[in-house]
Amino acid sequence: MSAALVGINGFLHEGLKKRIVLADVSKSREIRRFLVSLPILMTKRTPIIGGNWKMNTDLESGMLLAGAVADQFDSCDCCDVVIYPPFLYLQAVDSVIGQSMVSLGAQDIWHASNGAFTGEISADMLKEIGVTSVLVGHSERRHVLGESEVLIAKKMKTSLASGFQTVLCVGETLEERESGNTLSVVLGQVTSGLEGVSASQMESVIIAYEPVWAIGTGKTASPEDAQSVHKEIRECVRGLYDEIVADTLRIQYGGSVKPDNAAELFASPDIDGALVGGASLSADSFNAIVAASCKS
Ligand code: 13P
Repeated sequence: MSAALVGINGFLHEGLKKRIVLADVSKSREIRRFLVSLPILMTKRTPIIGGNWKMNTDLESGMLLAGAVADQFDSCDCCDVVIYPPFLYLQAVDSVIGQSMVSLGAQDIWHASNGAFTGEISADMLKEIGVTSVLVGHSERRHVLGESEVLIAKKMKTSLASGFQTVLCVGETLEERESGNTLSVVLGQVTSGLEGVSASQMESVIIAYEPVWAIGTGKTASPEDAQSVHKEIRECVRGLYDEIVADTLRIQYGGSVKPDNAAELFASPDIDGALVGGASLSADSFNAIVAASCKS
């Protein structure tokens, strides 16, 4: 999946072809820094599949689900797998996924470190119980709970400063798509969410493109439509940062991803995995989506 050829001077010089390196750069900073020093390099982004359970499961079913995912992927190194249970079950789920390849994620974070914020959860609290990945700006938080771009940008900064892998979720509503505003909305959300985020912090950023009209509706963006938005997001990030940041950034697709549509989405060059809602609530369907990403 997602091989990107990067030429520092924008072209592949015959004499430098020998120095092309094929490597998975998303897991190792050392390898990444080494590659940056080469004039020409080829990067392969490791797919990342997230299971966003939203406000679903109970303690027992959540632990069973996490166990069934962890059992399947206790030694998977072809992709990254993260599950995002409800806050209340994080600790229990952590005890189940243990030393497996499955990482623990939180569906949200609060931007302040402590204080009078009734109902909120801080970065330190998440860290203490083993969370390594955080979702920020999910469309349900933007559109159902009214989170603003300003709040989302604050959460991004706090999450990154606290060392979490941070997934910035973006996506247009049906109305915005039908009025021809998909790119201005999505790229506006990307730009505003990344404000103040440094190039080195971008190593911990994932972007999830989740068209709001495709979430929980059974309507998936076609692989062509999704690919074209993903490509624009990557170009936007190239403009905000540089070639390396853009070409190593992983961009997940989300919105009614299922075992039967995952493979064709993952075949697109700029789709680096999925953020899965409904289908992550069954180990069989989630594991099938993970398996599809490994084959891409
Ligand atoms: P569905 O897969 O249920 O459409 O949800 C997608 C989503 O919102 C993941 O964050």
